[in-house]
Amino acid sequence: MNHSAKCMAASLALSVTVWAGTPAKADEARNRAAGEAMAQELCSGCHIIGENQSGPVPDGPAPFPVIADRPGRTVGYLEAYLSSPTPPMPHVPLSKQEVDRVIAYIRSFAE
Ligand code: HEC
Repeated sequence: MNHSAKCMAASLALSVTVWAGTPAKADEARNRAAGEAMAQELCSGCHIIGENQSGPVPDGPAPFPVIADRPGRTVGYLEAYLSSPTPPMPHVPLSKQEVDRVIAYIRSFAE
């Protein structure tokens, strides 16, 4: 391979990587934003849903950033929990897409 062919190959590989990376990241950002709006609507009556918020309910259920930092709060755990929560956490009926979104939002505090 001559020099310019190598350059071509390198820049092709680079653009493929960038291209492959972008849509997933954009999806995740969209999911988080949608999850935040959902959390505001459906969960904020009980949970503090963001950082630097002080509650209407100081001794209420754990704030989302606290939940995200607990050990073992994986996507799998959160999916299972939301489909059969422990009382007094109510079962909130959500579609698969809504569950993905609200979990993407909660998990965003763990990073
Ligand atoms: C009516 C009040 C209420 C609402 C509304 C509510 N929660 Fe909860 N949630 C609780 C309580 C109380 C607990 C703690 C239950 C326990 O003691 O195990 C809890 C626990 C949780 C946990 C488990 C925390 C852990 O570390 O195991 C998750 C995850 C959670 N809630 C997510 C949500 C999401 C997402 C929503 C909105 C879709 C929501 N909650 C709406 C009251 C509520």
